[in-house]
Amino acid sequence: MLNKILNHLPGDHPWQNLITWYDTIDSTNTRAKQLALSGAPHGTVLMADRQTGGRGRMGRSFHSPSGCGVYLSVILRPRCAPRELMHLTCATAVAARAAVEKATGLAPDIKWTNDLVCGRQKVAGILTELVTVGSETCAIVGIGINCCQKSGDFPEELRDIATSLAMVSGKEIDRSLVAACLIQELWAMDRDLLTEKSALMARYQAACITVGKDISLLLPGEVRHGHALGVDGDGALIVRFEDGSTEPVQSGEVSVRGMYGYL
Ligand code: BTN
Repeated sequence: MLNKILNHLPGDHPWQNLITWYDTIDSTNTRAKQLALSGAPHGTVLMADRQTGGRGRMGRSFHSPSGCGVYLSVILRPRCAPRELMHLTCATAVAARAAVEKATGLAPDIKWTNDLVCGRQKVAGILTELVTVGSETCAIVGIGINCCQKSGDFPEELRDIATSLAMVSGKEIDRSLVAACLIQELWAMDRDLLTEKSALMARYQAACITVGKDISLLLPGEVRHGHALGVDGDGALIVRFEDGSTEPVQSGEVSVRGMYGYL
């Protein structure tokens, strides 16, 4: 698989000698964190055929069966303070969306903040994590894309809310091409991350299906209802709540009316 991926990349790709393929791993993000702490260079890419402990946001798991998906983490050392990286998850979503479009012609929407969706169902998820190594900030950028699954490949509880590029397109998906396009787009995202922030966020906002929708914000012990007005430059969702207040939402679970079974 690694050779197929490399064949899709330009021969002089700056990250081409930094890619490791695992047949099975617990989580590429977990391994990337360990490697980052032991000095792995900027642009180190880890990919796996299967994850036994794939992780998502808010302590959730990410179902990662063999032969079906692209599970990738890259280590970035962006030479800036953590507060300059508030938009990293959004920028990654823009990159992942562009990669899917280049590889398959499908252009998924983005559900704030970190899901790519086709119709009402999730096709990919993003988990970005920051670690501090001495005085340096290191970002672990993890992406999981459901490529080749058929409905029966998802556990019962995910069948209504998850889908794959193959199910959506009705065509076979070349995982190696999706992976290569993702590496290319992540490289371009890293190049532009600090210098093209407003352009990246404009692309994010344009693709974000949550904007303009009624939403519910699920907080510990509380649910707040409102209307999503937009996304700010740091990636916060601007919500007008039922009590008339307008606030940026940085974290928490946002349900969009009409998606993932929320009707
Ligand atoms: C989410 O859905 O909340 C995010 C899912 C992120 C999954 C990817 S797969 C590659 C990397 N390794 C992990 O353990 N998680 C990310």
